[in-house]
Amino acid sequence: MSPGNEYEADIEEMLYSAQEIAQAIENLAAAIGRDYARQPLVLIGVLKGALCLTADLTRALIRLPAGPSPITVDFAGVSSYGTSSRSSGRVCLEKNIEVNISGQNVVIVEDIIDNGLTLAHLQTLCRSRHPKSLRSCVLLDKPYNRRADVTVHYVGLTVPDAFIVGYGLDYQEKYRNLPYLAKLRPQVFSE
Ligand code: PRP
Repeated sequence: MSPGNEYEADIEEMLYSAQEIAQAIENLAAAIGRDYARQPLVLIGVLKGALCLTADLTRALIRLPAGPSPITVDFAGVSSYGTSSRSSGRVCLEKNIEVNISGQNVVIVEDIIDNGLTLAHLQTLCRSRHPKSLRSCVLLDKPYNRRADVTVHYVGLTVPDAFIVGYGLDYQEKYRNLPYLAKLRPQVFSE
């Protein structure tokens, strides 16, 4: 049985294959690599959704011949969806950033931006610590329901207005282990 097969009945449509995700991450790494060539860089991954992305993006940056260096990685734990498919609108910081980002080049690594409140919250948190520069990288941009005016510097893929799971993204803590990105069947939300 391949990974994620147990969820097959819940999937309406596969949106991006593992290979397409990998290509999008290579493109993100190339763009970040150009901007921070041979410069120190701090990546702040946003848990839990950006767990896979942060690891794969870090690897892709390490493979660049003249990429950022050294790379420091930390995580922020943020949640606003809880067990629902809709954002509560309240961003809850569950794990703070621990590394000192003062005077550093910082890139926030986020799996998906939807209403933008999560990223806006983290950008404010980071800015309060006076980094040298602050940029944001998202694998998936869902630009239809923005409630916060946030700038995203690096975008992997623009996705349809659907609840997306897989590759670290969950619904009620399930589906994170799907190797691809997918749209859930509407029935899953009424169960
Ligand atoms: C999801 C996702 C992003 C955020 C984006 O996190 O992983 O971090 O919501 O949504 P927004 O732009 O509408 O704020 P969630 O709250 O589900 O926590 P999780 O990553 O731990 O699953």
